[in-house]
Order: sequence, then structure tokens, then C-alpha cells
Amino acid sequence: MAEKKSSALFVCLGNICRSPIAEAVFTHYVKEQNLSEKWIIDSAATADYHTGKSPDRRAIKCMKRHDIPMSHKARPIIAEDFKNFDYIFGMDENNIRDLKRLAPKNSTAKIELLGDYDPEGPCIIRDPYYDDGDEGFEEVYQQCKRCCQAFLNKVS
Ligand SMILES: *[C@@H]1O[C@H](CO)[C@@H](O)[C@H](O)[C@H]1NC(C)=O
Ligand SMILES: *[C@@H]1O[C@H](CO)[C@@H](O)[C@H](O)[C@H]1NC(C)=O
Repeated sequence: MAEKKSSALFVCLGNICRSPIAEAVFTHYVKEQNLSEKWIIDSAATADYHTGKSPDRRAIKCMKRHDIPMSHKARPIIAEDFKNFDYIFGMDENNIRDLKRLAPKNSTAKIELLGDYDPEGPCIIRDPYYDDGDEGFEEVYQQCKRCCQAFLNKVS
């Protein structure tokens, strides 16, 4: 019998800043560990403000700077995601609250704060959307990097 794949969905409010960065970073580490065949990875929004849009230009710039490929079009989370994904990660407490509200009764996904895996602390990955510059995006990247590595080490 074929081995069952693991799956992770990264979620934030609009799916154009934090969650596509987290998706790209996790995909990068999974590939680096030669585990691509074993994972299904995606990202989604709790609100549909930006459906169909590419990530924020500052998020694209940040991933370019770190030489990590990112290609995603924003989409809202749907009921099936709660049974198709093993892990659904929110970036802050509002995301977690929205995810719990949107989850169907028979949801089987584990809903967690991605930041809970950060060995260096801050559990909340703050929304950099309203920042002027690139620093907020860099911080999101650094947090995602630590969390994704720690999570992958834990589950594989
Ligand atoms: C992944 O595969 C490549 C090519 O086969 C190999 O060079 C590399 O050491 C592998 N990495 C890990 C972490 O197993
Ligand atoms: C969960 O419930 C919905 C209807 O409420 C149903 O369509 C879906 O198939 C159910 N999923 C599972 C995994 O039972």
C-alpha cells in the first residue's frame, strides 16, 4: 500500500503576505530534505479580499532575497480543507479564532499556531501588511524559517 502523504495548510487573513511566505519556506525545507513526495502543502485565507491575487510585492522581494521560489494565488479556505489537511497553521490568534469558527463539526485537521514551534519564542507572526518597508517581511521570513524547520524535524 502506498504510504499516506502528510499535509499542511498555512493560513492568514488575506493569503498574500504571511501564509504564502510560510508555504514557500516549508516547501523549500521539505524539498531540501528530499521529502517532496511525502507532503501536500498549500496556503489559504480566512477572508476573501484578495482571491486570485499574487503575493504582496514585498513578500515576493523577500523570497527573492532568500532565493526561495514562491508561486501562489490567494484563495479562501474551504470546508474540505479541514478534512484534507492534517495540519492547519494560523499566524496569529485572530487566524486561530477564525479557523475554529469556520471549521465544520467533523473537521479532522489539527489547528495550531505556527509560532508555537518557534524555538526562540514569539508565538505570534505579526501581519507586516501595514508596515512601510521590508523589515516586517524579513521578520516574518525568519520566524517562518525557524518554525518550519522545527515542525518538520518534529514530524519526520
Ligand atoms: C537529497 O538528495 C540529494 C540527491 O540525491 C542528495 O545529494 C542529498 O544529500 C539528499 N539530502 C538529504 C537531506 O537526504
Ligand atoms: C462532513 O460533513 C459534511 C456535511 O456537513 C459532509 O459533506 C462531509 O462529507 C463530511 N466529511 C467527513 C470527513 O465526514
